[in-house]
Amino acid sequence: NWSMSNFCDQEITRIRNLVGPKAQVIGAVSGGVDSTVAAKLLKEAIGSRFHAVLVDNGVMRMNECQQVKQTLAEHLGISLTVVDASQRFLDGLKGTEDPEKKRKFIGNTFIDIFEEEALKIEKKAENTPNAGKVEWFLQGTLYPDVIESISFKGPSQTIKTHHNVGGLPQRMIDGQGLKLIEPLRELFKDEVRQLGRQLGVHEDLVMRHPFPGPGIAIRIIGEVTPDRVRIARQADHIFIGMIREAGLYNEISQAYAGLDTNKAVGVMGDQRQEGYIIILRAVRTTDFMTAEAYPFSMDFLMNVSRRIVNEVDGVALVTYNVTSKPPSTIELQ
Ligand code: XMP
Repeated sequence: NWSMSNFCDQEITRIRNLVGPKAQVIGAVSGGVDSTVAAKLLKEAIGSRFHAVLVDNGVMRMNECQQVKQTLAEHLGISLTVVDASQRFLDGLKGTEDPEKKRKFIGNTFIDIFEEEALKIEKKAENTPNAGKVEWFLQGTLYPDVIESISFKGPSQTIKTHHNVGGLPQRMIDGQGLKLIEPLRELFKDEVRQLGRQLGVHEDLVMRHPFPGPGIAIRIIGEVTPDRVRIARQADHIFIGMIREAGLYNEISQAYAGLDTNKAVGVMGDQRQEGYIIILRAVRTTDFMTAEAYPFSMDFLMNVSRRIVNEVDGVALVTYNVTSKPPSTIELQ
């Protein structure tokens, strides 16, 4: 007799037994519903031996890191360590255009940072009642992440190397011996949302659109530079804000503004002015494996375009991506 509240209790007990009485757990938290629900389960299971860490990879959305820290503290009593590694990521992304290379670099650097943080946590806990090895790494991996990255085995058939799946866990296991906990591995998004409600996660957070681990980097077609991140971030902020104001946020499963680094020719006064192309994306889906573009009104889209072109320096043109998944994907890369 499977129910969400049974799942919740059983999972907390399972985690508690799995981790045992001494080991510590480090968890990757991004502020999305998956990692937040996973963190809340760990917190319930082992309390202060769980350490939530958010890595600022320089390709998060506007004001995101501080907001996530505040929300987790206020609503869930989880104290989040924010590691600012933005420079390290942006430096490492220099010159990279290939999407899979971006993903791999971000994923690997992310793991390096978690290994470094795990050592810091152990050092800090020495000679305290919490002393113990950090033996486990928590990720909020969902069932669709697992099937899209892993069951299409073989590098030529991997659709995308999801940042939180394929390859990375193995690297950690080989490296420092961190073992992986993925309590959501068998759930779909709507089930994680139900579980979140069960655990008292705030409704805004429960309904938050997903955001990929490699962030804005895979929403920029071409090389990632700080200026391009700024442009994509500002455009995204305007678009999402307008979706919220129009009362459409919860009708849409995921939305963002991406950037094509090819330049279009525009005109300002009587001057030729080149600028980047912004690609808006908004989809409806239940499982994120298939998706349809959201049918905005033309008026709405024209208003978004007007605001982005007027308010974001460096944009010449705004388009709306209407392609379904498949054959397109939700992210640009
Ligand atoms: P695609 O673009 O594959 O996206 O249609 C499907 C869903 O997965 C998210 N996504 C990711 N999430 N790490 C993540 O944590 C990743 O590397 C990654 N790539 C895509 C995407 O945002 C969408 O919700």
